Amino acid sequence: MSGDIEGGAPRAPGTAVRVLTPPAGVPGALGERGSLQAGERVLLLDAKQRRYLIALGQGTSFHTHAGIVAHDDIIGRDEGATVTGTTGRRFLVVRPTLADVVLKMPRGAQVIYPKDLGAILVAADIGPGARVLEAGVGSGALSMAMLRAGADVLGYEIRADFAERAVANVTTWLGTSRYRVELRDVYEGIDASGLDRIVLDLPEPWRVIPHALGALRPGGVFAAYLPTINQTATLRNALARAPFALAETAEVLRRTWHIETRSVRPDHRMVAHTGFVTTARLVERADDQVPAPTSSTGEELQAWSPIEDEPEPVEDPT
Ligand SMILES: C[S@@+](CC[C@H](N)C(=O)[O-])C[C@H]1O[C@@H](n2cnc3c(N)ncnc32)[C@H](O)[C@@H]1O
Repeated sequence: MSGDIEGGAPRAPGTAVRVLTPPAGVPGALGERGSLQAGERVLLLDAKQRRYLIALGQGTSFHTHAGIVAHDDIIGRDEGATVTGTTGRRFLVVRPTLADVVLKMPRGAQVIYPKDLGAILVAADIGPGARVLEAGVGSGALSMAMLRAGADVLGYEIRADFAERAVANVTTWLGTSRYRVELRDVYEGIDASGLDRIVLDLPEPWRVIPHALGALRPGGVFAAYLPTINQTATLRNALARAPFALAETAEVLRRTWHIETRSVRPDHRMVAHTGFVTTARLVERADDQVPAPTSSTGEELQAWSPIEDEPEPVEDPT
């Protein structure tokens, strides 16, 4: 962490928060240039476009059902080289992109798909120097996207194994010191202030609204990623009752195309639904606004649920 995120409310005495940070400057991190080196991770693609992510090591080899590839045949080559395995099958070698890494890296929690990572970066306006609180960090896919966009990211995560996985992934692929993960429950509060952005990927983001009011700077962006429209509607109704404006919800439908000589058509398969991205800006409280409720079982849930009338009791004529 670059230290730009100011400490907020004092911590309760005796509250231990474990903090995890990656070391800076990992060799072979995303964005390397020049010839391929031992220690770097590269992507191998076979003729059927199957993808294999491997770490290059001198004297070692990569085994697939399509043959064995000696790492020494790759080390020292340029990206885009083609190498031949023992069975004569050819593999294209490139450095992986962030999207390749996200889909192939070890996961604890379900990661956000690359198509949505891009949308979140733009919708939440993540850029160099942005002070971002992210919860929960899960496997670190969204953390990596925001770190690569230049943000300083403070992560809150309730599960130690997921926090460790996220930090390990960031260490392996980015090795930046602009990342710090704290083991804590964001529903209980945010121990930071002056944040530019709060970005959430957890089940009940509306429970973070009361804490966001003190942690976000005026004009800051509150962003949440949710899998169902029910959750999204609950969030939007809670945001509408709090001092937030410019609320917007969108989903990304990304359809790839098959383009081969005269055969030009959409691909048969696509990742259809993943999640909804909602953003809103913190503004001055209007006089007619009521405070945001804090729980999904509370007032705001009733506000959007249709309330069915109780059936009239039928009198027994006897
Ligand atoms: C779907 S995962 C996040 C995946 C992550 N965005 C990624 O791309 O890798 C949701 C995470 O939220 C965490 N979580 C749930 N409730 C939380 C809370 N109240 N405070 C902090 N983390 C929470 C879970 O443990 C889980 O790791």
